[in-house]
Amino acid sequence: MASRSEEQPGDADPSFIMALGTAYWGSRTLLAANRLGVFDILSGEPMRASELAEKLGLVPAATELFLNACVALGLCEKDQGRFRNSVSSETYLVSTSPASMANAIRYSDNLFSSWGKLEQALASGEPPMAAKTYLGDDRAQTRDFVYGMHDRALAVGRCLPEMIDLCGRKKMLDVGGGPGTYSALITARFPGLHSDVLELAGVAEIAAEILDGLNASDRVTMREGDYHSSDFGVGYDVVLMSGMFHRETAENCRRLIDKARACLEPGGMLIVSDVFTDTGGTGPEFAALFGLNMMLTAPDGRVHADADVAAWMADAGFLEVVRQPFPPPMPHRIVTGLRS
Ligand SMILES: C[S@@+](CC[C@H](N)C(=O)[O-])C[C@H]1O[C@@H](n2cnc3c(N)ncnc32)[C@H](O)[C@@H]1O
Repeated sequence: MASRSEEQPGDADPSFIMALGTAYWGSRTLLAANRLGVFDILSGEPMRASELAEKLGLVPAATELFLNACVALGLCEKDQGRFRNSVSSETYLVSTSPASMANAIRYSDNLFSSWGKLEQALASGEPPMAAKTYLGDDRAQTRDFVYGMHDRALAVGRCLPEMIDLCGRKKMLDVGGGPGTYSALITARFPGLHSDVLELAGVAEIAAEILDGLNASDRVTMREGDYHSSDFGVGYDVVLMSGMFHRETAENCRRLIDKARACLEPGGMLIVSDVFTDTGGTGPEFAALFGLNMMLTAPDGRVHADADVAAWMADAGFLEVVRQPFPPPMPHRIVTGLRS
């Protein structure tokens, strides 16, 4: 099937326009159900809408409409008037499930109001939400952000160690490492590798608690600092830059690649992992929309093409620069290179 951008005049189709015009209905339903804790409650036992309404202090008739919509969306199932979680909701939306994405969905919910200000951001060039709100200033939002990154990294980050060979490497710097989850997973996969996670103070504090919970504190050390102004140090044989290029201009990314090069030993590996577009920036769809999401939430937020990152790394003197996509359905890609 031709992509929508390749439509011919006779292919005009109103259905995807109508679907896009109302896409937020389904999204809002998921975000509200997650925020209200519906999936945790339905995980115990199937119940009627009136019972759920009583537990949550909601109006029963409205709750019936809400849960019926959850069934239509595949989030719940209904049997003889009682609602229960679908298999996917039970696996990914119950907060105690090992594969839970509940924190990541709550962080997405925190951004909903910023998406409502898209025209304002386009006119001003400023994100409606100040990045410092979720990077330390507002404790609740910072926790949602850090735990959301952790949930996501537990899913996405499990693939990364399988895509790179770090056998024999000893010292990694995880720049803007967030909750430290990638460091915990990578150092578990490659025994003998220790990671320093460079992070802002407000995030580092929560990350330390996550690393304790993962029993990773002996192989991952949090280092408070700003990746623009802090010295990276020397003697590393791996530098990981995951999910931070989308917060930075091309010039800043090039500067960060140079800083990575300077802290690496000869033969040391730089791994840049992120959501990247194809050349030109118009696809894949998720990556193009992700650029908007970052524009709404960080002063220099955007999305880059992995081909550009590969070129910057080659310009900086990295050898054997390779681009690799994560396995589907993950939208991430990595670019790796070796210090000459
Ligand atoms: C999207 S998160 C990625 C976290 C982690 N690397 C991952 O992939 O899960 C970007 C991280 O960069 C951190 N960050 C942003 N600006 C920073 C700066 N100037 N110095 C250090 N860390 C920064 C944020 O706190 C956040 O944890």
